[in-house]
Amino acid sequence: MIKIALIGFGNVGKSFARVLINRATELTKLGLEPCVIGVLASRGGLINDNCIGGGTLMDLVNKGLYNAPGFKAVNLRDLIKLKPDIAVVSIPPSYRTGEPNLTIYRLLISEGVSVITADKTGLALAYWELINESRARGVFLGFTATVMAGTPVIQLIKGLRGRVVESIEGVLNATSNYVLTLVENGLTMSEAVKKAIEEKIAEPDPAIDLGGLDAAAKATILANVLGLNVSLRDVNVQSLMSLKDDYIKECARRGVRVKQVASISLTSRVLSVKPMEVPTGSVLGSITGNYNALVIRLNDGKEITVIGPTGPAEATAEVMFSDLLEYADLLLTMGKRIKG
Ligand SMILES: NC(=O)c1ccc[n+]([C@@H]2O[C@H](COP(=O)([O-])OP(=O)(O)OC[C@H]3O[C@@H](n4cnc5c(N)ncnc54)[C@H](OP(=O)(O)O)[C@@H]3O)[C@@H](O)[C@H]2O)c1
Repeated sequence: MIKIALIGFGNVGKSFARVLINRATELTKLGLEPCVIGVLASRGGLINDNCIGGGTLMDLVNKGLYNAPGFKAVNLRDLIKLKPDIAVVSIPPSYRTGEPNLTIYRLLISEGVSVITADKTGLALAYWELINESRARGVFLGFTATVMAGTPVIQLIKGLRGRVVESIEGVLNATSNYVLTLVENGLTMSEAVKKAIEEKIAEPDPAIDLGGLDAAAKATILANVLGLNVSLRDVNVQSLMSLKDDYIKECARRGVRVKQVASISLTSRVLSVKPMEVPTGSVLGSITGNYNALVIRLNDGKEITVIGPTGPAEATAEVMFSDLLEYADLLLTMGKRIKG
């Protein structure tokens, strides 16, 4: 059995619950039946040492947590007392401090609870602390959904640790694609930003998507996976917001596009996120909408390119379920020597 805690029950948390209900048999047939022992949001939740059944969990998804029978003002410490094996964390954090998520990860890991998360800030601010602590405590830390969400590039990058990667360039924030396309098509930057926020495509704080913090956090994680020791605060970030509308439109007429490009030089250990002109037909210039792209340059001059979807929440949740399957593999491979 795997005792699972769901911490955060918004778009991603509910989507994950749906995936878990629909795909529980994939774990059951491995002899690791999933048992959700708690669902927590900011004001409390539901905890049950005897497993919250699939029907009840689906009711929480459909009718909400706060009106559910059995809802209590419980907190994370109450949930940890039930000794979950793994917590699936989906809480939006502060990009400046990583909170409340960093405190939540630290507490879970110190209590021997494995973690799966889609939040990039905790790892972008304290990657090696979290990795080293989880190794020391023998717990699993799954973060495949943090970069490009619906396209598991973290696994690709992990698979490249034996190669010599010289640099990576990527378009890692889909919202900036959307806003830039709106400006190319005639809106002003402020109209485009307003529209993206109203449509809930952009975070209400423009510094996150258009200012470059989201892409910087993702680039930081990729760099750390490849062995650098860098923090979100080390990334040289330039916002898109100061670009003139006419400049963006004029680029489109010249056959180039302005994109928010995240660059990682593994050789000089420099990370940046800034607006750049890229040819319209290039990998980075060709993507629009909900897509991200990466160009990975190896020391033998070869390139690996990836274009793939980022969210939405459903795809993110499926990738978090992949992390849960990886955790299950580890339990089976290690004869449960990893905590579980
Ligand atoms: N949405 C996507 O497509 C997507 C894609 C990739 C990654 N992500 C990442 O996934 C995370 C969650 O995103 P989301 O869209 O699911 O957010 P969301 O819809 O705003 O839901 C957030 C949930 O977290 C709960 N919460 C907030 N503070 C909490 C605390 N201290 N303790 C326990 N629960 C708390 C909220 O409770 P209340 O309901 O009480 O407010 C809510 O249930 C973010 O880090 C985001 O960057 C999202």
